[in-house]
Amino acid sequence: MHSEYQHLIDLSDYPVSWWKKVVELGEEIRNDPSKFAHECDGKVMATLFYEPSTRTQMSFQTAMIRLGGKIIGFDNPANSSVSKGETIKDTTKIVSNYADVLVMRHPIAGASKAASLTADCPVINAGDGGHLHPTQTLTDLLTLKIEKKTLSGLTVGMCGDLINGRTVHSLCKALSMFSNNKFIFISTPELRMPAYIKDIIKANGSTFEEVNTLEEAIGSLDVLYMTRIQQERFASKEEYLAQKNTYVLDRKKMQLAKPDMIVMHPLPRVDEITVDVDDDKRAMYFTQAKYGVFVRMALILTILREKKSSETLKGKVYSGVRCSNPRCITNHEEYLPKSFLSSGDETLLECEYCDERKLI
Ligand code: NCD
Repeated sequence: MHSEYQHLIDLSDYPVSWWKKVVELGEEIRNDPSKFAHECDGKVMATLFYEPSTRTQMSFQTAMIRLGGKIIGFDNPANSSVSKGETIKDTTKIVSNYADVLVMRHPIAGASKAASLTADCPVINAGDGGHLHPTQTLTDLLTLKIEKKTLSGLTVGMCGDLINGRTVHSLCKALSMFSNNKFIFISTPELRMPAYIKDIIKANGSTFEEVNTLEEAIGSLDVLYMTRIQQERFASKEEYLAQKNTYVLDRKKMQLAKPDMIVMHPLPRVDEITVDVDDDKRAMYFTQAKYGVFVRMALILTILREKKSSETLKGKVYSGVRCSNPRCITNHEEYLPKSFLSSGDETLLECEYCDERKLI
């Protein structure tokens, strides 16, 4: 299936050279934002946020305003026709005729991809459930480029809710495309990185190990990426409470880290980094959030300038087969065409919306 518009649903839909170009433009904008102040005069961006957000939504809005454009949208679907039962297809079809670019966050995996099938303007995925968060990854790449001066040869620790953290999924996919990056996944057995991400890392020639404690990894890291335990993605409160407070980065643990290690976090923080770490010069999370505006300016500009078409669905429909992930958009919006990819072995299918695997 094709769309005549250029969407950003997953960074893997683009070559690495494209991401580099966006990040480099982000750096150029950071160095002199005033040069870009009228690039989007007369343009409108819609932000459709079906799930709470502070940084992603406001940094996108700030980005468009700083480019000279205007913004429309909602941050509480209860105030829109979504509350009357309107489908993603109808809402995005309408709004994409009002705006030049649409930014969407949704609690269900694959929602932005679903929107991109029928929208009449480019769609940017601002987070789809526990699945992906490509624009946080662009923010993270810009942060690494500026603060570590490289995107290669890094030992990156990722800590916390690795199963539900869309930020770490997208970041692993991206960093494994650069040479000699090594990942150390720090989590409880229940919150390990999904198998499909680990397979992508291996296929890209990067390596990873899995450990249970921060102490055993922190001394070897160049980057420590902390994440929040995602309460809203657990099946029950009890399961969340069993994981809460497992990992807390404090000043004592920071003493075990290299003097040039940086601490990143997509934020919001709950209690996984103590407030006294904020004064450590290696704490980079607030700077990281600031860089998000520049890279989103670069992304909006790139998409509005390039105006390429996109291949929205590449997979096949298998008769009677549906995705087994209850949090996949195809199980919430029935009109969507099901679509699966197979890696040669036709008995193992991967849902193209949420990456859930299924044996048939
Ligand atoms: C993250 C998200 O929404 O996935 N935050 C963000 O976009 N900056 C991480 C989180 O909510 O924990």
